[in-house]
Amino acid sequence: MTNVMIIGGGSGMGLALARTLLMDGADVTIAGRSEDRLAAARTELESAGHGKIRTVRADIGREEDVAALFARAGEVEHVAVTAADATGVYGRTPDLPTATARAVLDAKLLGAWLVGKHGAGRVTGSITFTSGINAYRPNGANTIMAAANGALASLARGLAIELAPVRVNVVSPGWVDTPIWEQLGVDKGAAFAELAGRLPARRIGTPDDIAQAFVSVMGNGFITGTVLHVDGGHHLT
Ligand SMILES: NC(=O)c1ccc[n+]([C@@H]2O[C@H](COP(=O)([O-])OP(=O)(O)OC[C@H]3O[C@@H](n4cnc5c(N)ncnc54)[C@H](OP(=O)(O)O)[C@@H]3O)[C@@H](O)[C@H]2O)c1
Repeated sequence: MTNVMIIGGGSGMGLALARTLLMDGADVTIAGRSEDRLAAARTELESAGHGKIRTVRADIGREEDVAALFARAGEVEHVAVTAADATGVYGRTPDLPTATARAVLDAKLLGAWLVGKHGAGRVTGSITFTSGINAYRPNGANTIMAAANGALASLARGLAIELAPVRVNVVSPGWVDTPIWEQLGVDKGAAFAELAGRLPARRIGTPDDIAQAFVSVMGNGFITGTVLHVDGGHHLT
């Protein structure tokens, strides 16, 4: 891989993917909303490998940001989208402000669609979106995020036809220990311990588990229109 853009690459799974790709010698651009988060990631990644790291401030929910991101990048071999903001989404549907639901759809679903729209003609290899286990095993607490995640499978199938031969796929993680859990207001330690005990893999995921899945999907020229479940068997439970 030569040149990869990771939208949401300032932390968690996207950051782990950036580190892996830089170690393999790829040039990597990470994008996100917070300059501080990007700067911290850049400091960490600068010594991570042989490839060059670039950071760009962009909100995937804003069309002007996504358009500028691709216009500035020129040709990109692979794009991974790991961006999501789970602030305030954990709770029952009757209690969720509609503005919060719209914000989730704007960033997670329409944001991914904007990547297809503005990446068309610029991305040469693949686009990979990030879904999540809640699309396949709803837990009664974050239904709008689950809906957005589930819709990404259909979006990827549609874009895989429209943008061919560019490949478009989805990685669907199970529970992974990343900073997003700080936004959920749940007892992470207790939740992880309980789930790990009943998962076939007997453990919670790591950002590197998901980074490796992204690398596989990006690198395999015969995978397109597919959802890859990387969840320790959570979708079987
Ligand atoms: N961790 C889990 O257990 C889990 C499980 C299933 C699915 N997922 C999914 O996996 C993906 C990666 O999550 P993670 O766990 O790695 O979380 P994370 O560490 O919080 O990373 C998410 C990144 O997305 C960026 N971001 C958020 N909103 C954005 C926006 N509107 N535009 C651009 N960047 C934005 C954040 O940076 P800024 O705030 O600076 O923008 C952050 O760096 C997400 O799609 C999440 O829904 C996670």
